[in-house]
Amino acid sequence: MSTYGQFPAARPRRLRTTPAMRRMVAETRLHPAELILPAFVREGISEPVPISSMPGVVQHSRDTLRKAAVEAVEAGVGGIMLFGVPETKDATGSQGTDPEGILQLAIRDVKAEVGDELIVMSDLCLDEFTDHGHCGVLDARGRVDNDATLERYAEMARVQAEAGVHVVGPSGMMDGQVGVIRRALDEAGHQDVAILAYTVKYSSAFYGPFREAVASSLTGDRKTYQQDPANSRESMRELALDLAEGADMVMVKPALPYLDVLAKVAESVDVPVAAYQISGEYAMVEAAAEKGWIDRDAAIFETLTGIRRAGANMILTYWATEAARRLR
Ligand code: PBG
Repeated sequence: MSTYGQFPAARPRRLRTTPAMRRMVAETRLHPAELILPAFVREGISEPVPISSMPGVVQHSRDTLRKAAVEAVEAGVGGIMLFGVPETKDATGSQGTDPEGILQLAIRDVKAEVGDELIVMSDLCLDEFTDHGHCGVLDARGRVDNDATLERYAEMARVQAEAGVHVVGPSGMMDGQVGVIRRALDEAGHQDVAILAYTVKYSSAFYGPFREAVASSLTGDRKTYQQDPANSRESMRELALDLAEGADMVMVKPALPYLDVLAKVAESVDVPVAAYQISGEYAMVEAAAEKGWIDRDAAIFETLTGIRRAGANMILTYWATEAARRLR
């Protein structure tokens, strides 16, 4: 007899007794096809350059990017999100709209290598291409000019579509970007190119390592266009706008600190929802694991499972290929 006279009537532990039991009752399963690999390709290099704040991640050369794409396909990964790192940057980010710019070349390379076996996506934003590092062009007073930036995004959408991209990912948080991009794509005959909108994007300290990855020269922050971490409601407003403007899929970013927002978005839409486990989330796990403070592999799968459980259909993660291999 228990000290308290009664045995528990319900014993949830019964369903946790063995790995087989836990596997059978698991509510959330990860699948390689829902993982998307973000990848950086840098102009003018022949060997990949390691990114010190993201151990295991590199700036690819055009050649090694092709190899990474093939490996992703072999592992069953669903898609690749490409970021270009140009040799020269300027105030308007002209390399972002040059048909021979590194991102456009990378899209062509990956398409030539893997065709339609991998969904090829491209970051549609100016910060990788501008010398000031902002996501748009600046006005005379140095502020990010929303509507002038939209015209640059329309042009980016056209050249990325010409290069053969399946999905564009507008990530600059300019008002009206999804609508302008949809119209530009349609007018140029690219009705089939889809838009994965970075709908909910917070101004986050966790983008830190990404700055190294794209050799950003940003000084200051992006607080006038990315969302304030204190707010949840405006995410629903951004969501309504992006859907009305024609987003095919929506994204929440970063992932871990915003699982509440992700869950809310996932509950309220009927389009696929992606979450981006960003550079700083990756770095945080890798760094703690390197110190021997956490179990790296368990932590990776715990974070991915948590993001999936919160409602993401797709996860952008720098561990995509590795995690997909383990899931096979
Ligand atoms: C903007 C963009 C950023 C990331 C993806 N697209 C940087 C930013 O908004 O500051 C961050 C991704 C990451 O940190 O892994 N082009």
